[in-house]
Amino acid sequence: MSSSPPETTPTGPPKTADELREAFLAYFEDHDHLRMPSASLIPAADPTLLLMNSGMAQFKPYFSGEKKPPHPRVTTSQKCFRAVDIEEGGDDTHLTMFEMLGNFSFGNYFKKEACAWALELLTDGFGFDPERLYYTVYTTDDEAAQIWLDLGIPPERIYRFGDEDNWWGPAGNEGVCGPSSEISYYRGSLDDVPAADDPVRNGEWGPNYHEDFVELYNLVFTQFYRDLDGNDTVLPAKNIDTGLGLERTLAVLQDVSNVYETDAFRPIIARVEQLSGKEWGGDEDADRAIRIVAEHARSASFLIGDGVIPGNTGRGYVLRRLIRRGMLFGRELGMDTPMLSAVARTVADHIGHVYPELKGNHDFIKDVLKQEEMNFSRTLEFGASVLA
Ligand code: GLY
Repeated sequence: MSSSPPETTPTGPPKTADELREAFLAYFEDHDHLRMPSASLIPAADPTLLLMNSGMAQFKPYFSGEKKPPHPRVTTSQKCFRAVDIEEGGDDTHLTMFEMLGNFSFGNYFKKEACAWALELLTDGFGFDPERLYYTVYTTDDEAAQIWLDLGIPPERIYRFGDEDNWWGPAGNEGVCGPSSEISYYRGSLDDVPAADDPVRNGEWGPNYHEDFVELYNLVFTQFYRDLDGNDTVLPAKNIDTGLGLERTLAVLQDVSNVYETDAFRPIIARVEQLSGKEWGGDEDADRAIRIVAEHARSASFLIGDGVIPGNTGRGYVLRRLIRRGMLFGRELGMDTPMLSAVARTVADHIGHVYPELKGNHDFIKDVLKQEEMNFSRTLEFGASVLA
């Protein structure tokens, strides 16, 4: 008997940034999550947070029980900015602005479902080799460790860490927080994996220890409210807050060594190459400068698109540092004309279909960048003339 063709052709794992975002959001929609839009990078009604730093930040009142969510399960792709990462911008994995995919439960499902879905999505959905996935749990979280074991994860791929690595939150000076479980991907050779009882696993080899591991998915078991004095009280309900870094995950999916080689960045890198006349992939210093110009132009575009303008305090100062750092690296590439403003068009063209404010506010973004670039150029030239 001949079998009829399947109604839909299986498409396999996602291959591009757009496919990855869609695959994540659609997976959780299929598990009864409400897809919600990214919030602005400027936190609304949260004076304790400078810039949106996580997917959960817009949902703080839902987690704390202060407000009722539109649905007990939500999924988003959230624009995030981490000012602490400015000086690391340009390395393989740290971005100042990144997209964080997240699934959230407000007093609904908890650890078991969050872990099972994360595993299914990474392996069946994204096609990641299960042998390459490693898990961390909070030192005392036997329950999470047991859940991973029950899901078939061998004990030697489950590591335990304390507050620094396996506790998340609050976002800002107060808010909800809890122990977490992270899933990392091992990018090294499977032939180099030490035996299960090798002591190198205790402090040298494994997630958080070794550079061959990239942290992808953070599952936070949000159970506490931390006040401004650092006191934790137990929340009325147990919640789930997760974050999967889109660009990092894409680098693994596309089997490239860093986020700048993914399709999330290639067109922006190409524009910096074109403007500077320098080619990516040749000289290490030039590569770093190209990455930083691309990254900072992208981040600055997002910040300005959400209404941040350069200033000497708060988020305005974050933006000013970003623009100035981008310009200084641009100068290393021989670009002394406004460059970030020229890259902003490519950023809008490339990702404006996901974040339409980049297109709608493009003229504003370009003008703010250009003005700041011209002001800083004058400052640099004045400084050089005084020193001459
Ligand atoms: N809120 C979870 C994370 O940002 O990793």
